[in-house]
Amino acid sequence: MKVFLKTYGCQMNERDSEALTGLLQEAGFIISDSPDDADAVLFNTCSVREHAEERIWSNLGQLKKKGPSLSLRINHANKKIIGVIGCMAQNYKDEIFKRAPIVDLVVGPNDLLSVPILIKNIVKEKSRALAVSTMEREQDFYVSNFRENKNHAYVVISEGCSNFCSYCVVPYVRGRLHCRNPQDILDEVKRTIELGIKDVTLLGQNVNSYKFEGIDFVKLLRMVNDMEGLKNFSFLTSHPKDVSKELFPMMRDLEKIKKSLHLPVQSGSDRILKMMNRGYAVSHYRKLAEEYRKTVGGLLSTDVIIGFPSETEEDFKKTCGLFKEIQFDSAYIFKYSSRPHTEAQNLSDSVSVEEKEKRHKILLDLQKNISKNKRCPK
Ligand code: 5AD
Ligand code: SF4
Repeated sequence: MKVFLKTYGCQMNERDSEALTGLLQEAGFIISDSPDDADAVLFNTCSVREHAEERIWSNLGQLKKKGPSLSLRINHANKKIIGVIGCMAQNYKDEIFKRAPIVDLVVGPNDLLSVPILIKNIVKEKSRALAVSTMEREQDFYVSNFRENKNHAYVVISEGCSNFCSYCVVPYVRGRLHCRNPQDILDEVKRTIELGIKDVTLLGQNVNSYKFEGIDFVKLLRMVNDMEGLKNFSFLTSHPKDVSKELFPMMRDLEKIKKSLHLPVQSGSDRILKMMNRGYAVSHYRKLAEEYRKTVGGLLSTDVIIGFPSETEEDFKKTCGLFKEIQFDSAYIFKYSSRPHTEAQNLSDSVSVEEKEKRHKILLDLQKNISKNKRCPK
């Protein structure tokens, strides 16, 4: 059987697709690079913003036009199994079968290990399959040595998130924070080194809250740095409230760590940060940025959301002011999108689409200028 896997969303999803590809190959599936000649088409999906989900609904709609419905397709000469896996699967569960009847398989991020067996079952039983437990992921998920990129590898250190930023769907689709055993992490790094990959990025929704028995994030960094054969490494994503005071000196001192930090600020207004449940004030962020630049002196990038419920012109100006002041090397600027399950969903999405568009453009232009000036100073 040939499987085509399409990935949306973040690096975590990319890594999940890669690990799943390895599992599928080990189970005897052939990975296809085109949906047209595949027997199964899987979408590894993202729920972080409504726009991401809309693209997938629309893709499913397009597929529907191409073929007959599930029960007919199963015995059809041109049968194709369609799967929705990852965050959207967890977000909508069996509702996906109703909204997109073409779908045969719905599997959440923590159940991906069972995808090969579920596909086989669908073929055998000619019925749909759903797996959306919110339990922790089985660590066997990472056993395969398949790597998409021969120069760089992602290694997950923690799954899920327990921060509950008021706008964010992640804790509801990926579950609460679960830190992998450092031994499993180091084993995986070792296996990637043995494959000839010498550049690694440690992944987690909030890497700074990593903790496993006596090992915290900074200790883990030192352990990874000590791995023989590793050339360099980095980590994603940091949370301003959990950055420990040891982090920057450690980044300065570890010779293999890349001098680059992605530290999402999300807003330059204390009032909005509070509503976002971020757990820090702008002054704290400012101090961290200063400390980082003084101690490590590397690249600094951020994420920011504009148009959060009740964001005023005044709040937005504060965000612009902070951008001017901090001079990020790069920034991802997102328009607020109301998400199911989240606390902010209960707030009125009060900033109009036009106003969000306007603020988005202003901040984007501002950051473009900053980035340009940093690359080639006048
Ligand atoms: N609306 C807009 N942007 C969001 N992000 C997370 N949730 C939302 C949302 N509901 C952004 C944050 C996060 C990045 C990955 O996506 O900035 O850091
Ligand atoms: Fe990644 Fe979040 Fe999108 Fe899930 S919802 S794929 S965790 S960005």
